[in-house]
Amino acid sequence: MNDPLGHPGKGASSRPAADVTIRATTEADLSAVQAIYAHHVATGTASFELEPPELDEIRRRWSALVSGGYPHLVAADGATVLGYAYAGAYRPRPAYRHSVEDSVYVDAAAHGRGIGRALLARLIEESERRGFRQMVAVIGDNVPASIALHASLGFVHAGRLTAVGFKFGRWCDSTLMQRALGPGDGAPP
Ligand SMILES: CC(C)(COP(=O)(O)OP(=O)(O)OC[C@H]1O[C@@H](n2cnc3c(N)ncnc32)[C@H](O)[C@@H]1OP(=O)(O)O)[C@@H](O)C(=O)NCCC(=O)NCCS
Repeated sequence: MNDPLGHPGKGASSRPAADVTIRATTEADLSAVQAIYAHHVATGTASFELEPPELDEIRRRWSALVSGGYPHLVAADGATVLGYAYAGAYRPRPAYRHSVEDSVYVDAAAHGRGIGRALLARLIEESERRGFRQMVAVIGDNVPASIALHASLGFVHAGRLTAVGFKFGRWCDSTLMQRALGPGDGAPP
C-alpha cells in the first residue's frame, strides 16, 4: 500500500459530471462565486466566516490568489456556474510555501452530482502542475460531505481541533485532512 502522505495511491481523475466543464475562473464568474459562498456562509458551518463577503472582497481574494500563482477553478454548465474551488497558501510563513489549503463550494441545488469531486480532482492536478507538494483541507465542523469528498480523493485524516470555532451559538471543531501532491516528500522541491 502506498503512503498517502508521501505517495498518493488513489488517482485524482478530473472527469467532470455530465455537461459540466471545469475551467479557470474569470472575473465574470465572480458574482456566481459570491452567491454560492454567501449561501454556505449564511447557512452552514463549513466556513467559519460569519458574514458573507461582498463581491468586491471576493474579487480581491480571487485576484490575490491568481496573481500569487494559485489555481482558481469553476464548474460550469454552459453559462451557469455550479461550483468553484481554489488553492491558497496553507499558512503565510515562507517554509510553508510548498503546501496549499484547498476550498471547494458547490451550489446547494447541485450537490451530489459529482461536481465537488470533479473540481477537487482538477484542483489537485493544477496544484501538482504548479509544483506544490502537500494539500491540506481544514474542514469546518467536520462536515460529513466534505470529509467524504476529500477521502474519495486520497486525503487522510491528520487531526482534529476541538471547539476552535463558534458559530450559530455553538462550538465547532475542525478536521484536518492531508494529501501529497506529485512526489510529495519523496524529493526536495
Ligand atoms: C462538500 C461539497 C463540496 C461536496 O460537493 P458535491 O458536488 O455535493 O459532492 P460529490 O457529488 O462530488 O461527491 C463527492 C464524494 O463525497 C460523497 N458525498 C457527497 N455528499 C455527501 C454527503 N452528504 N454525505 C456523505 N458523503 C457525501 C459522495 O458520495 C462522493 O464520494 P465518492 O467519490 O467516493 O463516490 C458540497 O457538499 C458543498 O459545497 N458543501 C458545503 C461547503 C463545504 O463543505 N465545502 C468544503 C470546504 S473545504
